[in-house]
Amino acid sequence: KEEAVILTPKPSPKPRINSARVFGVRPGSPVLYTIAASGQRPLWFSAENLPEGLTLNRETGQITGKLAKRGEHKITMVATNDLGEARKELRLVVGDTIALTPPMGWNSWNCWACAVDDKKIRDAADAMIKSGLINHGYQYVNIDDCWMVRLNSDDPVVGGPRRDEAGRLLTNKRFPDMKALTDYIHAKGLKAGIYTSPGPFTCAGFAGAYQHEAHDAKQFADWGFDLLKYDWCSYGDVVQGKQDLDTLKKPYILMGGILKKQDRDILLNLCQYGMGDVWKWGAEVGGQSWRTAGDLGFELDRIFEVALKNAEHRDYSRPGSWNDPDYLQIGYIGDASTGGHPKPCPITPSEQYAFMSLWCLMASPLFYSGDMGRLDEFTLNVLCNPEVIDVNQDALGQCAKVLPLGDEQFAMVKDLEDGSRAVGLFNRGELATDVAVKWSDLKLPEPKRVRDLWRHKDLDGAVTQFSAKLPRHAGVLLRLWAK
Ligand code: GLA
Repeated sequence: KEEAVILTPKPSPKPRINSARVFGVRPGSPVLYTIAASGQRPLWFSAENLPEGLTLNRETGQITGKLAKRGEHKITMVATNDLGEARKELRLVVGDTIALTPPMGWNSWNCWACAVDDKKIRDAADAMIKSGLINHGYQYVNIDDCWMVRLNSDDPVVGGPRRDEAGRLLTNKRFPDMKALTDYIHAKGLKAGIYTSPGPFTCAGFAGAYQHEAHDAKQFADWGFDLLKYDWCSYGDVVQGKQDLDTLKKPYILMGGILKKQDRDILLNLCQYGMGDVWKWGAEVGGQSWRTAGDLGFELDRIFEVALKNAEHRDYSRPGSWNDPDYLQIGYIGDASTGGHPKPCPITPSEQYAFMSLWCLMASPLFYSGDMGRLDEFTLNVLCNPEVIDVNQDALGQCAKVLPLGDEQFAMVKDLEDGSRAVGLFNRGELATDVAVKWSDLKLPEPKRVRDLWRHKDLDGAVTQFSAKLPRHAGVLLRLWAK
C-alpha cells in the first residue's frame, strides 16, 4: 500500500487568477461570472474595460448584469492583496455558444444518491466557498436524481401528486422551496444545476418530464437553474427499445430547443451513456456536454479504460462541446446502493492523481461528486492544483491525443492556447515501471522549458527526453514550451 504523498506545494500567498480566459453568454441572459483567484485573503478585485451593463463586486469578484448585444469584450481581471497583484485577460463572448471551457462544479449523485435534500445542497454550496474550491473555478452545485416525487410511493416525504392542477412539476418534501435554494446558491457566486429524464420517470423511479417538457423547462428557468442533466432512463420504454438515430435524438432536440428559448442560459448535459455515437450530434441538438459511456459508478479500477475510450472521441471536443466521462470520485464517496453513507474512496493516491490528470488532459467537465463536508487536505490538493486545472480550462478546448508507449504505458499530448503542450505519461499496469520517452518520438519539438505541473517545478535535463519510475496506475503531468 502506497503512502499518501502530497505532491503539490502549499499554495502561494501571492494572488493568482485561476479563472478561464474565455466565457460565453447568450445575449440578454443574466451574467454571473465569478473571478476565481487564490492567494492570501483579504483579496480585492477590479476589472478594466468592463462593458456597460456589467458590474463587479470588489470583495467577491462576482461580475453580474446583462449584455444585449452580440460581440466580444476583452476585460482585464485584476486581483490584489497585501503581497501583490495578478492580472489576466478575459474574453467575454456574447453569442450562441456557452460553456466555452469545460464546466466545473459538484454533483450530488455519487455522494448522496437518493438521500439528497435541500440542506445537503446548501451545505455543499457553503463548502464550495469554505474549502476554496470556488477559488479554483468550481462553480456549479448540481442536484441529481430524487428531488421530485417518487412514483407509486406512499411515503409522505417523497410520495404524493407529481404535478399541480396547472401541470407544474412538484418537488418532494425534501426540497421545500427551489427558488429560495437557487437564490442561496447564486448569492455565493455559484450556479445551480438540476436533473430530470425525458421519460415518464427517472432512473431512480421519480417523476420525469415526458409530455411536459416545455412546462418543466420553464419551471427550471423560473426556479433559476443554470444547468440541466437530461437522463434517458425510462425513455427507452417510451420508444420500445428503438435505438435508431432519429429516435435517440428526438427527446434531446426537443429539450435543447426549449432550453434555448428560456430567459437564462441553461447548460444541457446529455446523459444517455453514448448511444448512437452521441458525441457526433450532441452539440447540434443543443447540448454542451454528453456522457460518452455508462456510469463510472464505483468501479474506479476502470479509470484508465474509461479515459482511453473517452479520448477516442477527441475530434468532438471543442469550446461549447465536451465529452463527459462521468464524475471525479475521490475523497468520501457513496453510491446508490449505500443510499448516501459516503466512505473513503478505494483508490490509491497515485490513481487519484492519474484520475485528475486524465480528466484535465481530456478537457472533461470537472464535477466532483464526493462529500463536500469531508474534503481533507489530500483530496483538496488533487482537486485544486491551479496549473493542472489550467490544462483542463485551456481556451482551445482540445482533448489530448493518446500515443501508446508499450503494452501498459501511454502518453497523452494536448495542445494549449499559448503554443505550449501538456503531456501526460501513464502506467496503467499492475507493477511499477520505468517510463522513458524522447520528445521526438512524440513528434514534439525540442522544448526550452519543461515543467512538472503537480509539483510546480521546472525540470532541468529534460531537453530531449524524460524518464521516471511510475508506480502502478500512476502518471506524471508535464507542460512543454517549445524553443
Ligand atoms: C443514471 C446516471 C447517473 C445518475 C443516476 C440517477 O444512472 O447515469 O449519473 O444520474 O442515473 O438515478
